This record gives sequence, C-alpha cells and structure tokens, in this order.
Amino acid sequence: MLDDKPAGEEATTRRDALDVARLGLTLGAGDGAVPLLADVTLRVGRGETVGLVGESGSGKSLTARAALGMVPRGARATGRVTVSGVDVLAAGRRALRDLRRTRASMVFQDPRASINPVRRVGDYLTEGLRARGTPAGAAAERARELLGQVGIADPAGAMRRFPHQFSGGMLQRVMIAGALSTEPELLLADEPTTALDVTTQAEVVALLKEMQRARGTGMLFVTHDLDLAAAICDRVYVMYAGRIVEEAPGRALFTAPAHPYTRALLEASPSAHGDRVAIKAVAGRPRALAESPSGCSFRDRCPLADDRCAEAVPAHRTHRASAVACLRPELVSP
Ligand SMILES: Nc1ncnc2c1ncn2[C@@H]1O[C@H](COP(=O)(O)OP(=O)(O)OP(=O)(O)O)[C@@H](O)[C@H]1O
Ligand SMILES: [Mg+2]
Repeated sequence: MLDDKPAGEEATTRRDALDVARLGLTLGAGDGAVPLLADVTLRVGRGETVGLVGESGSGKSLTARAALGMVPRGARATGRVTVSGVDVLAAGRRALRDLRRTRASMVFQDPRASINPVRRVGDYLTEGLRARGTPAGAAAERARELLGQVGIADPAGAMRRFPHQFSGGMLQRVMIAGALSTEPELLLADEPTTALDVTTQAEVVALLKEMQRARGTGMLFVTHDLDLAAAICDRVYVMYAGRIVEEAPGRALFTAPAHPYTRALLEASPSAHGDRVAIKAVAGRPRALAESPSGCSFRDRCPLADDRCAEAVPAHRTHRASAVACLRPELVSP
C-alpha cells in the first residue's frame, strides 16, 4: 500500500475512516499556554460505530471537530489526524472544505446553531451532492428521497421550507439526511440527540444507525450517555480532562469497566447494576486538562488513588477487554 506515513507510526490502514494519533491541542503559547487535549489516540474503522463519552468539558467536541480540521482560533494542534487517507492537520482550507463536503460529515448537537437560517432546506441538502458533481435535478431528487428515508412527510414541500419552519426533532432529521447525502466514509455525530425528547431520541438513534450501517459509514458517536454508547457502539473511548482514559468494546465497558472514572460514570447512570461494588458517584466537578493535578488527572477525585498516581500520567495497558490508563484496574474490575 502506498502510504506516506513516516516509518514508526502506528499501523494505519486506508480502510480506517478516522485515525487520530497523539492529538494534542494547546491554546496560546509561552507561559500562558493552556492545554486542551493531550495524547488523544483513537480510530474508527469503515462501517464501525465508535463511542466517545465523558463528562461535560472533557474534550469530546474539541476532538470531533479537530477530526475535520476545525480547531479553536488561536489553538495549535499536534499529532496526526487522518480521514480517509487525508492528513487533516496538514491540509489546506480548500482540501478541508472538499473533505467536509464529500468524504466526512458532522451532525452537530444543536441543529439550529449549525444550519444557515436563511437558506432553504433544499439548498442545504443538495450542496454536498452538487459539490461532488451531481446535476441539480438529480441532486434534488436524491435529497427528496433522503428526506423520505429520515421520516419527513412531504419531502418536496420540506425542500422549499426554511429551518425555522421545522421542530427541533425534524430539523435534526434534516441534518442527518444532509450528513449522509454524500455517503461519507466518516460521520461525526456530536451529541446528535441531546436536544431531543426521549422518544424522538430513540428514533433518531435508530435511524442514524440504520443509515450508517447500510452505507458502511464509520461513525464517531459523541455522547455523555454511557448506556446509550454501550448499547449502540462496537467500541467506546472514555475521555477525562482532555485525555482518553479507557477504550473497550461496548459491552465490555458496561459489564467490566477498567478505569475508576468509567466505573463511577456507570454507577451514576440510572440503569447501574446493583451487583457492582459501588465507587461513590464522581465527587467534585469535572476538570479541564489545564487544571488537572500532575500524574493521573483523575486522582483527586479517585477513591483508589495513592502516591504512585501522582508520579506520571499512567500509560495505557491492557486489562481484560480494555486498554486503560490506570495503575490498578484489577481493583475496579477484578
Ligand atoms: N473554542 C474554545 N476556546 C477555548 N477553550 C475551549 C474552546 N472550546 C472548548 N474549550 C475548552 O475545552 C474543554 C473541552 O471542551 P469540549 O467542548 O470539547 O467539551 P465536551 O466534552 O464536548 O463537553 P460537553 O459535553 O459539554 O459538550 C473545556 O474546558 C472548554 O472550556
Ligand atoms: Mg461537546
């Protein structure tokens, strides 16, 4: 395979929809520099559904956005991000725009904040198709078909309407149709259902899954709902204070979490199993990377922490089905 990566990089195959290797993000420079992400490594294979979970402020959105080359103003990214073979952090504006229009797309948490309010839904939906060279008539037909598939009644009428003429749930469906219109290799879904009521949430998740499966799209599903992630994801990454602290298959994460933080998140979730030894609800508030203690970022909230945890950021190691950044995962899931 003609891969231009330097020797010594982790094995990367072109089949991966997304490959993030040691992504770091720092705001500003010099003494005032604020680290936002450190050493984030994750991959999403074609057709795979991968969860990214963690409390508010853990860095999920920063990671998802960086995957498409969107980094905050004044921030510097390090490491390597590859989407369908494109080196995102090195790509120019035009290459990134093309990538977002064709091979990778994103469903944002708040559809109203991320869709142009003065453009008709039809224009929004046909944009990516037109960019790929689909003639206007065929693009419109495809857009109507997609609207039907996501459960919008009267697709032809919907094409002529503006975003404010849709309810939140319906607009989220429109966004999903838009995100999938170009049959992307990668779909980044950032809390795609948080703004929706519970019934609509379940419908939208089912729809997203079905459409993604049918197309073989790799999906990064960002959520703070661990139960949901465990239910729909092949693999899940758990993020804390700008770092990945655990990676595990969806089911394994639920039944045998290896990081105390994952365990605490599960305990805090409504469907927590009663037979686990309780690790008290995550006390204190989530930390940003910049205000984390030395060594393990979680240690000041961790009931299992001791002096060794302050020495260095724990390296990822294998415990049961997990890759976990903790010195004593056997105390979490024996
Ligand atoms: N544009 C920005 N400039 C500076 N700091 C930012 C920016 N965006 C995010 N941050 C900071 O980076 C950290 C991670 O933010 P991020 O939005 O990725 O969190 P998140 O995990 O998506 O949280 P949530 O569940 O609330 O969406 C937070 O501390 C946040 O304040
Ligand atoms: Mg977010």
